[in-house]
Amino acid sequence: MRGFIAEPAATYGGPWTLKKLQILRAYLDAYTTALKNQPFRLVYIDAFAGTGSVNLPAQDPDIRAFHDGSAAIALDVQDKRFDRLIFVEQDRARCQELARLQDSHVGRDIRIENSEANQYLCSLQEDWHEWRGVLFLDPFATQVEWSTLKEIAALNALDTWILFPVAAITRMLPTSKRPDDISDQWAQRLTSVFGDEGWRELYQQARQGNLFGTVEHERDQGVDGLLGIYKAKLASLFEDRFLKQSRPFKNSKKSTLFELLFCVGNPKGTATAKRIAGHILKHL
Ligand SMILES: C[S@@+](CC[C@H](N)C(=O)[O-])C[C@H]1O[C@@H](n2cnc3c(N)ncnc32)[C@H](O)[C@@H]1O
Repeated sequence: MRGFIAEPAATYGGPWTLKKLQILRAYLDAYTTALKNQPFRLVYIDAFAGTGSVNLPAQDPDIRAFHDGSAAIALDVQDKRFDRLIFVEQDRARCQELARLQDSHVGRDIRIENSEANQYLCSLQEDWHEWRGVLFLDPFATQVEWSTLKEIAALNALDTWILFPVAAITRMLPTSKRPDDISDQWAQRLTSVFGDEGWRELYQQARQGNLFGTVEHERDQGVDGLLGIYKAKLASLFEDRFLKQSRPFKNSKKSTLFELLFCVGNPKGTATAKRIAGHILKHL
């Protein structure tokens, strides 16, 4: 924890946010150490970078604790340090906060990109024979597009952590049993997240009356179905590089908000990266 602040500039998530960041920190430490003696230059790409800090409720409800966000955590990695850090953030004010973080790390190759994450990631210019890296996809909701993941998978270079927005997607699916009970806008968004209309399979389940009902176990089945579809797609895209194991993040009512998923970048690193990520997911 970095300190306390009465009026947070930006607030994301709840207690699970710290767990997510703890997992990221552990992976970045292990990843850079594992590649320390390899000839590659190392890049960290934070496609939804935020401000470099997160403010979360402390025990005293009038006080919010101020913690390192993902960008600051990546800068903090020491053994070995990332050669380049790219912070992509759509919000201009948040980019200004990131610029302050950059100013406090003179001599580091830090690039702040005030861009839309998918557009930026589909135009990456690094020479991937020379570079390896970690990509962190930490959106608020359904911003990560399937077409972007296809581009990333094809690079064979970036180990990728994806925060999959279970609750946001659940809210977009109809609670009624009529499959057309969804706006065109939401249908398009779901198709851009899943890459095709495979998410409509969930409608079929809904029509049979066992999805997203008011009964808690029915809702759990719905979450499993949703994740199952997305994980199957990741497995077909990344093949062996997709780690089946993942971590749900739940709210105080035990509903899943997000699921943290992992895919390896370079095929040669698959066994090591999956072992490290799996160990971290199991023990943290
Ligand atoms: C959950 S926060 C990221 C928190 C950050 N990873 C951290 O740990 O400090 C999501 C961020 O993504 C930004 N954002 C939302 N949509 C975006 C998009 N399409 N492209 C780039 N940034 C986006 C938001 O402004 C917000 O700062």
